[in-house]
Amino acid sequence: MYYSDEIIEEVRSRNDIVDVIGSYVNLKKKGNSYSACCPFHHEKTPSFHVSRDKQMYHCFGCDAGGNVYTFLMEHENMTFPEALETLAERAGIKLPEKSMSPEAKQQNDLRTRIKEMNRLAAGYFHYLLKSERGTHAMEYLKGRGLTDETIQRFGLGFSDVYSDDLYQYLKSKGCTDEELKDSGLVRFDEKHGASDRFWNRVMYPIADANNRVIGFGGRVMGDAKPKYINTQDTPVFDKSRNLYGLNYAKKSKRPGIIFCEGYMDVIAMHQAGFDNAVASLGTALTPGQVNLIKRYTDRVYLAYDSDEAGTKAALRALEIMREFELPARVISLKPYKDPDELIQAEGTEEFERRIVKARSGTMFEIDILADNYNQEDPQERTEFQKEAAKKLSVIEEPLERNNYIDSVAEKYQMDAAALKEIVTKYGIAGTARVNLSGFQEKRSKGETGADKDDQMLKAERLLITWLINESSLFDALNGVLSPEDFYEPVYHSIAEELFTQYKAEGKVTPAAILDHYQSKEEHDKIAGIMQQDFDMEIAQEEKAKTVTDLVRTVKERSILHQLDNAKGDLTKINQLMMEKARIQKLIIRL
Ligand code: CTP
Ligand code: MN
Repeated sequence: MYYSDEIIEEVRSRNDIVDVIGSYVNLKKKGNSYSACCPFHHEKTPSFHVSRDKQMYHCFGCDAGGNVYTFLMEHENMTFPEALETLAERAGIKLPEKSMSPEAKQQNDLRTRIKEMNRLAAGYFHYLLKSERGTHAMEYLKGRGLTDETIQRFGLGFSDVYSDDLYQYLKSKGCTDEELKDSGLVRFDEKHGASDRFWNRVMYPIADANNRVIGFGGRVMGDAKPKYINTQDTPVFDKSRNLYGLNYAKKSKRPGIIFCEGYMDVIAMHQAGFDNAVASLGTALTPGQVNLIKRYTDRVYLAYDSDEAGTKAALRALEIMREFELPARVISLKPYKDPDELIQAEGTEEFERRIVKARSGTMFEIDILADNYNQEDPQERTEFQKEAAKKLSVIEEPLERNNYIDSVAEKYQMDAAALKEIVTKYGIAGTARVNLSGFQEKRSKGETGADKDDQMLKAERLLITWLINESSLFDALNGVLSPEDFYEPVYHSIAEELFTQYKAEGKVTPAAILDHYQSKEEHDKIAGIMQQDFDMEIAQEEKAKTVTDLVRTVKERSILHQLDNAKGDLTKINQLMMEKARIQKLIIRL
């Protein structure tokens, strides 16, 4: 981190989280906190809460959470320095220039420059498309049914036939060879010097979720190969973590997100009103993209090409989505090849019907499986049925599994009872395999080790929440429990920070703690703990009793752990045993 802790804290404390988030999200005051429908996932009833006291936010639906920095980083896709700079400016704080390490500053400047060059290039390509030089390209796009409005909205363009047209333009705008080299827009080679990466193509600028151009796809206007050229990876263009159309789709009022395969599909769909369509960027769908989309929605549709390649890609996409527990439905485009063709031929309403009729991912997989077997041949049919049963056996929810069994039995004219029997058989075999491979599932409710661990974690987490909400607890714990007694590393370090803060200032500032953690997972986890309020109506004795129990649980575990490590040190063991006895009689008063 190149800014000092003091600066980070000053900027944070001078930007009230309710005001900042309120400028992006429609917050409603509710008691001590403010709430809204979560901007990070799709929902109808508000589970996103912002607390002015704690200067933090948390969504109880999707577990997103953090402080004012995290919010800008997640919502506006900013890096930490960008969020800091934005907030400093907002509060009128001048940042010390030199506090950034030279390398970091250089890298940051380069990223800014590359985005600027991309913006210039997009503007230039768009200008060319509309000029006389772009007549042919304009005819091509119009011929594919695009309106002026759509061309404008997506900033489509044209790269001219000269091999260094863009290069000359960018040079005239003051770009140096050095930075152009990193932009991905121009290639340099010993023999021919500088040449544009894109020429004589219609250009699709690719924006990130914040509307900044980070790269391009360029399509030939005929049948030449390759059909598309895309920007290679650059410091601002990461194909595996961005999606075409997300800048608009994230604001869509339509339910869910529709994944398609091509740029042209996205554009055609948006033009037809399906402004929740996105596509990957010249590669197959990546886990990073699924992770990204999970922030915006919990409902996903696939509208992949109906040919063999598209079907394969859809099966793979479903697999990734399953790993991320994001259920997907598959839209059938048959007999058309892709969404663009379907909409051209049948129009918006038909596409709408196809969305309603979309099959679940599992049903789609079984239908594809069925196509691989000759259903007239008894042996092949049996094979198919077994494979289908295997698929169904992994559905965990019993009701859902039974519903699938009924549907599949009906669709493929099988005996439902017989199907259920073999699904159950595979289900049992599957469970046995999971256990043998050493994965202890949380399912069993007995006194297993895993269960105990869970309880311990929960006690530590709750105790942290109490420390944040009841500062009188710090004094009550004096000589009884210290941060070292927290076993889970994250909780241990939070406890340490809280105790230090309390000692120094007589109060705690939970939002300040977050900036010592880097990852989104940590932020979500910590904000989740800190945002929990207790019902203040609960009687004082009740509170004391609850806290006493928690302290005992945490302390006992800590003592047991120390006993494990005492290795025959009798004095130590003795002391710990006495402490253990004392804990039994402990009563915390608040
Ligand atoms: N693609 C690519 N390079 C290619 C072919 C395809 O990067 N040589 C990527 C592009 O991102 C493209 C997507 O794969 O958008 C889907 O390919 P395809 O269906 O062939 O293209 P469409 O976008 O449907 O384009 P069009 O309708 O103009 O043929
Ligand atoms: Mn296509």
